[in-house]
Amino acid sequence: MSRNDDLPASLPGLIMTRARWEGCTNFIGGSWQRAASGQTLPMINPADGQVIDTISRSSSGEISRAIKAARSALDDGEWSRLHPVDRGRLLMRISEMIRAHTDRLAALEAGDTGKPLSQATHDITATARYFEFYGGGVDKLGGETIPYLNDHDVRTRREPHGVTGHIIPWNYPAQIYARTLAPALAMGNAVVLKPAEEACLVTLALTELAREAGLPPGSLNLVTGTGEDAGAALAAHPGLDFLSFTGSPTTGTRIQSAAARNHIDCTLELGGKSPQIVFADADLERAIPLILNGIIQNSGQTCSAGSRLLVQDEIAPEVLARLQHAFERCVAGPPDLDPDLGPLISARQCERVNGYLSACNDDHVVARGTIHPEASDAGFFVPPTLLSGLEPSDPLMQDEVFGPVLSCMRFADEADAVRLANGTDYGLVAGVWTCDGARQTRIANALECGQVFLNCFGAGGGVELPFGGVGKSGHGREKGLEALRQFSRLKTIVQWTG
Ligand code: NAI
Ligand code: MG
Repeated sequence: MSRNDDLPASLPGLIMTRARWEGCTNFIGGSWQRAASGQTLPMINPADGQVIDTISRSSSGEISRAIKAARSALDDGEWSRLHPVDRGRLLMRISEMIRAHTDRLAALEAGDTGKPLSQATHDITATARYFEFYGGGVDKLGGETIPYLNDHDVRTRREPHGVTGHIIPWNYPAQIYARTLAPALAMGNAVVLKPAEEACLVTLALTELAREAGLPPGSLNLVTGTGEDAGAALAAHPGLDFLSFTGSPTTGTRIQSAAARNHIDCTLELGGKSPQIVFADADLERAIPLILNGIIQNSGQTCSAGSRLLVQDEIAPEVLARLQHAFERCVAGPPDLDPDLGPLISARQCERVNGYLSACNDDHVVARGTIHPEASDAGFFVPPTLLSGLEPSDPLMQDEVFGPVLSCMRFADEADAVRLANGTDYGLVAGVWTCDGARQTRIANALECGQVFLNCFGAGGGVELPFGGVGKSGHGREKGLEALRQFSRLKTIVQWTG
């Protein structure tokens, strides 16, 4: 089954030159393999609809082999014998190699997802930063001693879960790969990752870089395929000790049900309908570009996109006029032109976003951007769109559209703003724009979500910042040192000292 002999020395080199490699895209127990069935899936360039590569369409057999490889890495492999500081150094080495290959990885990510080249480059920089941050974090998180009875000594110990399963989406393949794998590896777990079938070439290149960096066999395994097949098999596998998922609420429910059947814990990051709340005293010079960026970044296909604009009555006309101007100047185009935004990921995602827009009365449309004349008609482009005058119950104010669509409503006062902001099933992030310091604190405390930005908006924010949702946005915290807690379990040791 191993096809290492047939492959050139550097798989990233192969992938990046887009040479044919016959769907040999599973990395199991330290070697590249293809699915036993021989079936493949096409990878499509969203900017022109053309097939750029193929990946293995794997199923439960490949998943079982990957979990077995991970288990043996933990039981008696080289991985189980590494000191924490050596694990950290390995992650740092991966980070350095990612940095050294930034341009090629960014080109690969841009071709696969359609995102503008500068955005893809930023994503690769963040990807390297994850491995650096968690490489440095490996030896920083200890247990504690607990005062108890005089003749007993109590300490806690952080241990890896064991074999962790990771299912990631297509919107930020490189970043989310690093966000979920780096802390899991840092804590000494052995991982099995199933990337998204819509965009995953960069995850293969990153995995090959990790192999070249010296990550021991079985510590990191990757299996490509569809969600319904390989994804469901991974989530349901009884050999898993923990699951980490980023994607839709519908799939999140399936993941959590599968985890429950195996009595394991999971983290779910399921997106949002995050509000940007603009008060009459806001610094609009600062706010407007960041509000625009918060919805056009990655064409709105960002879990933490600021997709709901809540504006205080008295400045609504001015805010809408400024945003109208900004939206009308935005151009969607192919990645190599480095436009304001790229295409959506797929024809399906395009239909979903256009479905929301066509169900909405034209009277609500305040502004639309344009599509670059050089953009292919076969690409999945949707111009950025600003809507206003919607009701709180409108699907455009409630649902995660996952496109470059900003829906606006007005509010009267602070209480009204908080009520509207908290008035969806989601709760991931929020932006608050006001110069009143006491109000900033009141609102930040009242918002039901995982991250609040005061006079700034990070759309996900830095690697250092704990991140995660409430309600339909999911549960658990990733990023920051919190992720090291999520990817480990606590043992309490009580010793009688006589
Ligand atoms: P999805 O949740 O179906 O896919 C995400 C990942 O889950 C992919 O790797 C997929 O292969 C896998 N998956 C799908 N079905 C599965 C199953 N039954 N068992 C195990 N794994 C499975 O999301 P999809 O269909 O790509 O996008 C639909 C909507 O979800 C988007 O329009 C958007 O609103 C939301 N979404 C949110 C994301 C976020 O960052 N939170 C990322 C991607 C999508
Ligand atoms: Mg799906």
